[in-house]
Amino acid sequence: MNDTPSAGRQPAGFRSDVPHSARIWNYWLGGKDNYPADRDAGDMVERMIPGIADAARANRAFLCRAVRHMVTEGGVRQFLDIGTGLPTADNTHEVAQRIAPECRIVYVDNDPLVLAHARALLTSSSAGACHYIDADVRDLDHILKVAGTILDLSRPVGLMLLGILNHVLDDGQARGIVNRLMDALPSGSYLAIGHPTAEVHGEAMHESMREFMRQGGTPITARSRGELELFFEGLELVEPGVVSCSRWRPEFTPFGAPAEVSEFCGVARKP
Ligand SMILES: C[S@@+](CC[C@H](N)C(=O)[O-])C[C@H]1O[C@@H](n2cnc3c(N)ncnc32)[C@H](O)[C@@H]1O
Repeated sequence: MNDTPSAGRQPAGFRSDVPHSARIWNYWLGGKDNYPADRDAGDMVERMIPGIADAARANRAFLCRAVRHMVTEGGVRQFLDIGTGLPTADNTHEVAQRIAPECRIVYVDNDPLVLAHARALLTSSSAGACHYIDADVRDLDHILKVAGTILDLSRPVGLMLLGILNHVLDDGQARGIVNRLMDALPSGSYLAIGHPTAEVHGEAMHESMREFMRQGGTPITARSRGELELFFEGLELVEPGVVSCSRWRPEFTPFGAPAEVSEFCGVARKP
C-alpha cells in the first residue's frame, strides 16, 4: 500500500492525517490511493459493520449495471456524475464508452486529490468527451452552467449520484438538489442513486458513522429505503425499485439472490 498518491504531488489543502471518504472508499475497493488514517477508519467501520467493503464493491458493480442500462435501454449518451471518487476500475465513462464511444461525461467533485487523480487518469475515447468540475454538490448554478458547455442539456442525461447524497445531511436540502438537477434535464433522462442505509445493520451503522465523524471524517448519514424512495418522486422507478446494490438486476448465478449489503440504490427515468 502506498503512502503517496499515484497521481504525483499533493494538492493544496490536502490532509493525509484525517480520514477522507473518497480514500476510505478507495481502500475498500482495493485501491492504493489511501493513507494510514483512511485505512484505520476503514478498518474501524469494517469491525462495526462486517461486509462494508463488500457494500462498496456492490455499489461500484451497481454503477456498471446502471450505466449499461441507461446506454442500452435508455439510449443515453451523456452523463453527469457528481461525487466522482478516486478513479478505479470501470468508471462511468469507461462503462458508457465501451458500449457507445461517443458518450460525453462530466464528473464533479469538491476534493482536490480526487480532481488531481481524475484529470490524470479519467481520459475519454477520441469520439466522446470527459470533463471535470471542481464544485460542491450544493453549488448547482455553477455545476449546471459548466455542465451545459460540455453536455447538450436539451437531450437526455444520466445523472449519477452515488455515495454523495449521504454527505448532504439535511433531507430537504438533499431532495432540493435532486429536484433542481432533474428539473434541468429533459424527458428521457435518468437518475441513479447509491446511498448507505441502516436497513441491514441497524443502529451499528449509525454508530459507525458517528465514530467516523468523531475521527474527523466527512459528515455522513444513512437513509432508509422509504427516505431513498422519496428522491425518485415524480420519476418512473425502474424495476426492482430501491433495493440493496447487490440485488439491483444482478448477474445470474446458480446460488440464488446475493446477500443484502448496507448500500441501497435505485434508477429512475424522467417521463
Ligand atoms: C464515497 S465516494 C463515492 C465515489 C463514487 N461515486 C462511487 O460511488 O464509487 C464520495 C465522493 O463524494 C465526494 N464529495 C463528498 N462531499 C462532497 C460535496 N459536498 N460536493 C462534491 N463532492 C463531494 C468525495 O470527495 C468523494 O469523491
